[in-house]
Formats: sequence, C-alpha cells, structure tokens
Amino acid sequence: MDFFASPDHPDPKFKSFLEDACSSLCNWISSTNQKGPLPLLFDLPEVEPCLDGLPPEQLLEDLQQLMSGSYHSSHPGALAHLDPPPLTGSIIGELICAGLNNNLLAEELSPSITKLERSLCKWIAGKLGMPSTSGGVSTSGGSLANLMALLVARSNSQLLYDSDAVVLVSEEAHVSITRAISVMGLPPEAVREILTDDDGRIDMRSLKEQFAKIKSHGKKCFAVVATAGTTVRGAIDPLAEISEFCKVENLWLHVDAAIGGVFALSTSTKNLVADLSKANSVTVNPQKLLGITKTSSLLLVAHLEDLFKCFSTGFPYIEPSSEFQFQGGEIGLQGSRPAEIIKLWIGLKQLGQKGIQLLLEESLSRKQSLFEKLDCRKLKLITGPLHLIAVTPRYATNVEADHWSLSTKARLLESNFMLSRPKYHRRHYLKAVMGNPHTKISHIEELSDILNQSI
Ligand SMILES: Cc1ncc(COP(=O)(O)O)c(C=O)c1O
Repeated sequence: MDFFASPDHPDPKFKSFLEDACSSLCNWISSTNQKGPLPLLFDLPEVEPCLDGLPPEQLLEDLQQLMSGSYHSSHPGALAHLDPPPLTGSIIGELICAGLNNNLLAEELSPSITKLERSLCKWIAGKLGMPSTSGGVSTSGGSLANLMALLVARSNSQLLYDSDAVVLVSEEAHVSITRAISVMGLPPEAVREILTDDDGRIDMRSLKEQFAKIKSHGKKCFAVVATAGTTVRGAIDPLAEISEFCKVENLWLHVDAAIGGVFALSTSTKNLVADLSKANSVTVNPQKLLGITKTSSLLLVAHLEDLFKCFSTGFPYIEPSSEFQFQGGEIGLQGSRPAEIIKLWIGLKQLGQKGIQLLLEESLSRKQSLFEKLDCRKLKLITGPLHLIAVTPRYATNVEADHWSLSTKARLLESNFMLSRPKYHRRHYLKAVMGNPHTKISHIEELSDILNQSI
C-alpha cells in the first residue's frame, strides 16, 4: 500500500510526490500573467475513481487539468472579489495542516494547535481592543461566524425560545445575516432593517425609530448587527454611537468585521476600526485581504465563556481537556475542525508587523489612486474608508446602468481586468477590490482609462 506515507522512515515516494506537486503549483502560479484572471475554455478530468488507483504522475496530470480551469487570484487584474493571492507562508501552513490532520474538536486530537488557536484568537481580540475575558474560535468562513454570533446573542438573551424575537440589521449587512436569522427558525419579519445614510452607514435615527417600533408592538430584540466594511463599498457603521445605544437598551452588538477587522492589526490603520473594542462579538475574516488561504475566519467574543454557554453539549466520548475548561468542539457549531488556524498564524508571522501594515496601507492607497483617476463627472463613485470602490454611470437610468455594467465588464475582461457587478440600491455597479498586491500603478491607469472611456 503506497497510499500512506511510511511512519517508519522518510518515504521517498511521498517526498517526490510532494516535490512534483509543489513544482506543478509553482508553475501554475508563475504562469498567471500569461493569461487573464479567468480561464476561457477547460475540460474537467474524469470524476469517478477507476478500478485501480492512479499513480502519482497521473494524479498530478488530473490536478494539472483542474488547475487549468481555475481562477487566478494572483493575476494583477483579479479585482472582482475579496479573494486576494495566497501568501506563500499560508500555502505551506495549509499543506502542513493537511499533513498533520489534527482535529480542533478536542485537545487530545490537537494538543499544540488547540493552545495555538486559543492564544491567537486572544491576541487578535486584544488587537481589536476587546477585554481580557475575550477570546474566540476559528470558523470555516465569515457566514458561519455570523450565524454563530447570532446564536450566542440569542442564547445570552431571555429570548431563546421566543419565536417573536427580532434582530436589528443594517440594510447594507451581508446576506449571511438574513440567512442566519432564517436558519435560526425565525420568520422574515424578524429581520428589522435599519436604513443607511448617503455613505452607506447605519443611520442612528432609523435605528432608534425601528427599536421604538419594535417595543411599541410588544416585540423583543436580541441583537443589533453592524458592519465594519460593507460588501459593496467598504463602509464602516458608527460603532461608538451604536454601542452606546446597545448598552442603554441592553442589546447585544455583533459587528460583522469580515472585511474591516484586519485593519485593527496595524498601528497605522487601527483607528479606522477603533470601536470594534465595544462589540459583544466580532467576525473577522483574514482570508479576505491578508492572503490567508481559504477558509480563514474567526468569531471573537468579549467573554469566551459565552461561546461555551451557547454551544456546549458535553462530550461523553472525549477526554476532558487537561488545560482548558472546554474543548474546541464545544465553542462553536462545527464538530471536527481542521487546524485552519495554522495558516493564519504562520501567514501573520511571515508578514510580520511591517508586512501586515504594508499590505493594509497599500490596499488603501491603490483604492485612493483609482478613485483619483476616475472621472467623477461621468461616473458616480461609491466608497468608504477601506479598499473597496464601486462605480456606475452618473447620468443613466437603472436599465442603462445594467447594460453598461454588462458590456463594460466584458470589455474589461478582454483587457484582463476582472471586476464584479453587484446590484446596490436597485442599480448595477462595477466593483473593484483593491487588495491585490500585484496590482501596480500602471494597471490602475489602464483600468481607469477603460472605465472613463466606457461612457
Ligand atoms: C461583510 C461580509 N460579511 C460576511 C461575508 C461572508 O464571508 P464568507 O464568504 O467567508 O462566508 C462576506 C463575504 O463577502 C462579507 O462581505
């Protein structure tokens, strides 16, 4: 059986399999600029396993074919989504994570990595300014972190079994919030929408009005959801005012900082998200900007025990943790969990404080350059303090904007720029996420020329 690496001695076949796979990956990444961000035509290799297993050479051929049809996040024109190129350290972290095959379900299945997860979450929560009781857990993606946050918020209130309970949610919140509320068994009316202002931030007057309405109808609210970095324009809600309001009304404040949370990691950008410190729970998604390979997300809470109180079921088939009051499988929805924390930890260590700062600052300055080069007499630009910007023709009907966005997106793809086409307030925009470190000023000039000439 050559399927498993020998536990007795360094296995030469495994080693050469790894080396060949690594060179194939290196070649794939290094050929990125010969193509566009999106593959044009591709065939899928045979899906079903054949009777006899395949040798490494043929497995690598199949993988190569799959890679030929893959999206190139390292292409400098790949600006559509929150999917930056992967850090090399994070790729290695992912490989080691697979090779160790530890399980964050329980300390006995991941002794060192369980400790790493607790320590790193606490460190990041500290960077966000959260209290010394804070901590967190890694989750497979921001959507799951948001769902878990709302479950914790509800279990912390007296409304766990109240089917009339509602949540106050910004109209610009990510779709994962409404989905979370729906899978929590609450009806659509449980989502009470708060209007935003012209900058896409929660309008405090609307928040207060909605809350008063809820009270006057005899309903109870268990959380307010704010966002630090909205999906289309990167707006940051007025967190200080919202948290004041939540304190007075005794409401849980969850901040979806999937996009903005990482800005707290550098001294030069942390003021952008300073008030994350006031939240009861925060979603942070380092996969979206720092180049940590997917998925990498954290749910951080002001009191780590709140996670345990919400999710603990007891583990009759697992030894209690020797060091911690609870196991990694008792502080979230997932049971078995991969050691995803490794690639976050090693990625941050590879960057160092200076590298983190550089990545964050450069993403902001790329956005600023694009903003300045776009012709705002022809284009309406919407953005916020972060690295996202979206554009639409200034003078056009919604139908015309729809046609413009389709044809301009296609025109951009011909020049190897990939932007996304979100619908925002009933109108189509083209959105650029300027977090790609391979995007240089010459690319930004070419991109802005195409956009300016598109009208
Ligand atoms: C603000 C925000 N929150 C949450 C999410 C969901 O994250 P994920 O795709 O990792 O589930 C996104 C995705 O873009 C987002 O923009």
